[in-house]
Amino acid sequence: MLIRMIFLGAIGLASTSATAGDPFAAGDAKIGKQMVEKHCVSCHASSYGGDGSSIYTREDHRVKSAKGLIAQIRNCNTNLGLKWFEDEELHVASYLNKTYYKFDK
Ligand code: HEC
Repeated sequence: MLIRMIFLGAIGLASTSATAGDPFAAGDAKIGKQMVEKHCVSCHASSYGGDGSSIYTREDHRVKSAKGLIAQIRNCNTNLGLKWFEDEELHVASYLNKTYYKFDK
């Protein structure tokens, strides 16, 4: 009985992370949020005010697609010398997409 509950729990977890239409399903938005708060927000906030999130939502923002988003994250990663791995970029992409951009492919 206990085994069965663990098994069903695992399926439940797997299905919440792999939402249909999520281009960054492999990323973990919770981890991404912490990474962005630590490395990215203060600079965006100092140029755009508030919590910095208007950089993603301003009119004419640059990122127009899921591909563009991961490319922009990669640029920042490289420029800042953060040396994030690809799976870490995916966490950040997942967070920014779920929170702001909402691309579905
Ligand atoms: C030193 C300052 C600075 C830091 C640190 C920084 N950014 Fe940026 N970021 C900018 C500026 C300035 C722009 C706007 C560029 C433009 O409009 O041409 C930008 C734009 C962006 C955009 C595009 C927004 C849009 O749709 O127009 C994304 C996404 C982004 N940054 C992600 C990140 C991530 C992820 C990090 C952390 C790894 C990060 N940035 C760290 C300065 C910074």
